[in-house]
Amino acid sequence: MKEIPIKGDEIRNEQLLKWIQESAALCQPDQVYVCGGSEDENRRLCDEMVKTGTFIRLNKEKRPNSFLARSDPRDVARMEGKTYVCSINKSDAGPTNNWVNPAEMKETLIQLFNGCMRGRTMYVIPFSMGPLGSKIAHVGVEITDSPYVVVSMRIMTRMGRPVLNVLGNKGSFVKCMHSVGVPLASGDRDTPWPCNPDKTYIIHFPEERAIYSFGSGYGGNALLGKKCFALRIASVMARDEGWLAEHMLIMGVESPEGEKTYLGAAFPSACGKTNLVMMVPPKGFEGWKVMTIGDDIAWIKADENGVLRAINPEAGFFGVAPGTSMKSNPNAMLTLNRNCIFTNVALTDDGDVWWEGMTDEPPPHLIDWQGLDWTPDCKRLAAHPNARFTAPINQCPTYDPQWDNPEGVPIKAFIFGGRMSKDVPMVYEAFNWSHGVYVAATMGSEATAAAEGQPEMRRDPMAMLPFCGYNMADYWSHWLNIGRQLNDPPRIFKVNWFRRDENGRFMWPGFGENIRILKWIINRARGFGYGVESPMGFMPRLQDICWEGLDFDSATFYKLMSVDREKAKLEATSHEELFDKFFDRLPKEFIHHRELLKSRLWRSSEVWKLERAIF
Ligand code: OXD
Ligand code: MN
Repeated sequence: MKEIPIKGDEIRNEQLLKWIQESAALCQPDQVYVCGGSEDENRRLCDEMVKTGTFIRLNKEKRPNSFLARSDPRDVARMEGKTYVCSINKSDAGPTNNWVNPAEMKETLIQLFNGCMRGRTMYVIPFSMGPLGSKIAHVGVEITDSPYVVVSMRIMTRMGRPVLNVLGNKGSFVKCMHSVGVPLASGDRDTPWPCNPDKTYIIHFPEERAIYSFGSGYGGNALLGKKCFALRIASVMARDEGWLAEHMLIMGVESPEGEKTYLGAAFPSACGKTNLVMMVPPKGFEGWKVMTIGDDIAWIKADENGVLRAINPEAGFFGVAPGTSMKSNPNAMLTLNRNCIFTNVALTDDGDVWWEGMTDEPPPHLIDWQGLDWTPDCKRLAAHPNARFTAPINQCPTYDPQWDNPEGVPIKAFIFGGRMSKDVPMVYEAFNWSHGVYVAATMGSEATAAAEGQPEMRRDPMAMLPFCGYNMADYWSHWLNIGRQLNDPPRIFKVNWFRRDENGRFMWPGFGENIRILKWIINRARGFGYGVESPMGFMPRLQDICWEGLDFDSATFYKLMSVDREKAKLEATSHEELFDKFFDRLPKEFIHHRELLKSRLWRSSEVWKLERAIF
């Protein structure tokens, strides 16, 4: 067999060297390159991608060191249907994950990866999820044949030579193998976005801590540190080692007196996590500061004093571009003014980017995400709805330097939320940790509108439905166990910013105004601040929210907080449907909480309202 040269940084870790050699023998690339992560290396890869057409360099004055990539239109999002958790026992993957017997899946993989990198370079990317050397962080190594993945991983993780130093000769790492799945025969011309949608697989072997991804070059399918490692594999590591890997933002809120409180908040995809974590406090909240540790994933571990401390394993934002503007999220916009990769947004005539919602008036002419001429009257979207920006966190104006603290930040409260146009109140606090776990486990969010125009609720426990790498019922038990081991567990809250009135209009202004609700949450979590006991949990009265600077109608507030008792009864009953799937693995506490909820709901008047609960 021909000798495949290994270029770039030297590998001293025996296990890694062996894995690289085995992978090269299987995938048969022309060469192997070990990424050191330097500026020079990054520049060279970006220049090469400009030459091959994968990247378009943006206007150097307007967006220095930034690029636009256009994907194949068949490769534009995460593919949940092609994502598998191949644990040894099917029941360990649980009813919410696709499962195939690992031995069978490995046979498929060997066929797929055999010769898949012919004509290409195999890149080796050592990366750390979390601050280098932190006790909460872990190392991964991604092997890929996509230079787009290399430069994206350089933004999204701490990557390169320093990670090899942390790994040392004997350290272990999570294996992340990726190929776009398009080998090149000699003389073949490559396409700007090679991918193989018919043969796409995103596969996790939880017991082996290994990930194999084939056929897609997009986002969470290809940047394997993100959803695949930091959530699916890490959730299994967390279960085995007693910590939490969550689909959560981490934010700090500092009062004018300088008291800083860290919160972890879980929302399903596309519920505004990036807006919340970078919010601008509104009128009436002068002197308050919101600081950003992370917008998507949190790794959380108890320290020796029993305090939960969180790190953001990532180093960048991979955010949805459409809808982001100086009005909706100025801090995100300011983060994007240099050193960014944009994927599937539109290109302006002066070499800048644009997407729907960026400005009130669209530019008169653009090149759309598919490379076609676009004018405002052409009836097509200029940017793909899942168009993304990839940007370094430390460019964000609200960046919290604690982001790189290896000890993490202490979490005082967890918030769970979804997008619900009706029936779910704006905020309430769980009675205790196990009730909070129940509330989070039964949360849902409205997804696409159904045919008859009614939004459909999809249950998304802890916003982890597509990301939990094991049986969700075991995951709930794990959450219950974590709480039992803490001296003073964080308080748990449920929020819903998205309630609408009879005319379909949002009742709550959201964005920066959400800090009013966060202030009540922080007060409660710090042990003061009033809460009324309702059947759902503790709720603020009108006078418990700070309204300074906002003229908000009290009737609307009560509407936002009201619960229709009959609907709440139906909702409580429908929890059984969710739980039935998990059968004997369901934590017994959940049955108890469901019955308590029912009895609270069945107990009093027909339509429960906050006003009545107070008096
Ligand atoms: C994301 C997602 O991209 O949750 O963060 O889908
Ligand atoms: Mn996410």
